[in-house]
Amino acid sequence: MKRILTGDRPTSDSFHLGNYVGSLKNRVKLQDEYETFILVADLHALTTHFEKTADLEKNIRGLMLGYLSVGLDPRKVTFCLQSQITGTTELAYILSTLTQRAVLERQPALKEKLDQGAQDTLALYYYPVLMAADILIPRAHLVPVGKDQKAHVEFARDIAMKFNNLYGEVFPIPEPLIGEVPTLPGTDGQAKMGKSLNNAIFLTDSPQEVEKKVMGMYTDPKRIHQTDPGTVEGNPVFIYLDAFGSESDKLQTTNYKLLYSKGQVGDIEVKKYLAKVLNNFLYSIRKKRAEYEKQPDLVDKILKEGTEKARQEAQSTLQEVKKAMKLDYFE
Ligand code: TRP
Repeated sequence: MKRILTGDRPTSDSFHLGNYVGSLKNRVKLQDEYETFILVADLHALTTHFEKTADLEKNIRGLMLGYLSVGLDPRKVTFCLQSQITGTTELAYILSTLTQRAVLERQPALKEKLDQGAQDTLALYYYPVLMAADILIPRAHLVPVGKDQKAHVEFARDIAMKFNNLYGEVFPIPEPLIGEVPTLPGTDGQAKMGKSLNNAIFLTDSPQEVEKKVMGMYTDPKRIHQTDPGTVEGNPVFIYLDAFGSESDKLQTTNYKLLYSKGQVGDIEVKKYLAKVLNNFLYSIRKKRAEYEKQPDLVDKILKEGTEKARQEAQSTLQEVKKAMKLDYFE
């Protein structure tokens, strides 16, 4: 079975609907087709959040609960914690010897993060090298990521090829898998849902919170009276209905789109329906989460055992790496 490695930085303790459509949903599907490793990248969190390490524990637990609640199955998926896979930083050093400094200086994500006010640390430049080590150490074939991460996976590809050419075939060449889903807009109509943008609906929101956020959602700003013809295209209410409605909601959604565009239904009625659809979608996620929340020891055990497995994989890859590079004097 081919292998996947993907992951998230624990800079927050909750996932929102945008994270679900953009990545979690796809991971749930892929867990049956690939041997999946999901990495909680706490070392990468330090590139922007080194002053907030007190939050790491809460965030790591929050991500784990999020993964498990959406149906990532610990019998199929290896969950692992980056800082405890000691071989990763060692491999990262080795990969850095094959990395031109100019390549790191040119990475688009760097400029973006600096523009957002991140501190200009070496770790920020080094981000792609560590990420390449994350991917190469379990010898992953496929890396599902958002399009903002594509350049990093391409960097990992280039460096794997360079390594293999120089020292012999140790690494499979990893492929990025970029989610095809267009980015989910925020409740305020902005192009992207984001925690820091204050326009997100979280998987952990209560039914009342969901309803409140939906009732305040941005719709068609030009529509003043419910008899005004409304715009369906690009309207976040309808985008969410399409993204989260079940099979049996399709007919009603189509119906509402028609009525809305003719000015025959009010925003409030459609929003009430959306709140119901979202709460139905979140029902099983909330239920699963509650079960795991009751068993914090189990959640920790899942991460610990997965990390142990990842660590063993890492050691065996490192051994091969060192052998290939003649860094094995005592062997
Ligand atoms: N850089 C990723 C992000 O910010 C997280 C991450 C770290 C990752 N290591 C990885 C993703 C390896 C895929 C593969 O979302």
